[in-house]
Amino acid sequence: MLKGKKILIGITGSIAAYKMPYLVRLLKKEGAEVTVILTPTAFDFVTPLTLSTLSENPVLSAPYKKENGEWTNHVTLGITSDLFLIAPASASTLAKLANGIADNLLITTYLAARCPVFIAPAMDVDMFRHPATQNNIDTLRQRGHLIIDPAEGDLASGLKGAGRLEEPENIFKIIQDFFLTKQNLNGKKVLVTAGSTCEPIDPVRFIGNHSSGKMGVAIAEEAASMGATVTLICGKMTNIHESKWIRVIKTETAQEMLNACLEHAPDNDVIIKAAAVADFTPQQVSSEKIKKDGNALKTIELKPTVDILAALGKQKRKDQILVGFALETENVIANATRKLHDKNLDLIVVNDATQEGAGFHCNTNIITLLFPDGTTSAFEKKPKRLVARDILSAVCAIIP
Ligand code: CTP
Repeated sequence: MLKGKKILIGITGSIAAYKMPYLVRLLKKEGAEVTVILTPTAFDFVTPLTLSTLSENPVLSAPYKKENGEWTNHVTLGITSDLFLIAPASASTLAKLANGIADNLLITTYLAARCPVFIAPAMDVDMFRHPATQNNIDTLRQRGHLIIDPAEGDLASGLKGAGRLEEPENIFKIIQDFFLTKQNLNGKKVLVTAGSTCEPIDPVRFIGNHSSGKMGVAIAEEAASMGATVTLICGKMTNIHESKWIRVIKTETAQEMLNACLEHAPDNDVIIKAAAVADFTPQQVSSEKIKKDGNALKTIELKPTVDILAALGKQKRKDQILVGFALETENVIANATRKLHDKNLDLIVVNDATQEGAGFHCNTNIITLLFPDGTTSAFEKKPKRLVARDILSAVCAIIP
């Protein structure tokens, strides 16, 4: 599986660097070609001798050799690698990656990299929680990189909380799964919807919902990293940047999202509808801002919107895969099964909104996948990007 894959590993100055020789060994055993880059402070935590012995490659750190001026070609490293893993990524490296501060070989290589980048932060709990670190992580996530969230537990400082580098076996599994599923969406076109629609009441107010669009964005980014060409149709407040592989179409109302979906669906192999579409829209939109006059505003009459997913189910071709979501608070499986059949879906992703760590605004989700033949697979709580991978792996397994 990993035979011949060129994996670049960037190690930074964090105590968790001690876990990395073991990961290098796991990757080598599976046939990967591993090259390690150390930042200057990483030398205090792990030795180049250990890493060069296990990787069977010289460990890189300096931009050039002082004794003879030989240049380390970071551009070639970035271009020829199949994957760049930065682990452990310290708070300082995250800041440099987010802002392009190219003062060491790891960052210059990152800036030249054309391969997928996986970043596994590790630091003390308060450093990890700090808005500066979280903003940098958000920036890197939005750039399409996979963030391998740190695990919770005992930290080197004696404190407890999130900040432990994910265990080498789990990082190995993530890399292995990536190469296993990656090829499967090569050349495929994937349409994803995300976020909330906004139904105007008057020029300044609307009816919306709490959907941040994070789940749909994670699916779009993951599909792109698996080789697909992605179109993301999302609510206007969904946070995503257009990239070479993800075309973003922003829509406001359910009607606009419907129009965009009907236009683009025929051209796609896979359609995943993660958007939280309003079920109702005001019958009439006031052309002026509705003024308060001290009395109750008695009624805003609402009419139903078109169910976009059901409309796409009606026009679905045999060679297309249509995936819906079901957000439920009661009779979860029964309600989702009904939606799966009524809307002619190939797969439905079920969320129980009452579970902690699932649903709106979280960075995690807890899903169950439900197939038309009645089979189900339930997953534990995971970061949304890994949830996206579970969904797309299931899609790859049923794609014609
Ligand atoms: N959906 C849609 N268009 C709508 C409403 C929902 O495409 N007007 C899609 C959502 O994108 C999601 C799926 O339908 O993939 C299920 O949405 P959900 O809110 O769970 O269920 P509904 O079908 O709207 O039913 P209810 O609100 O009664 O649970």
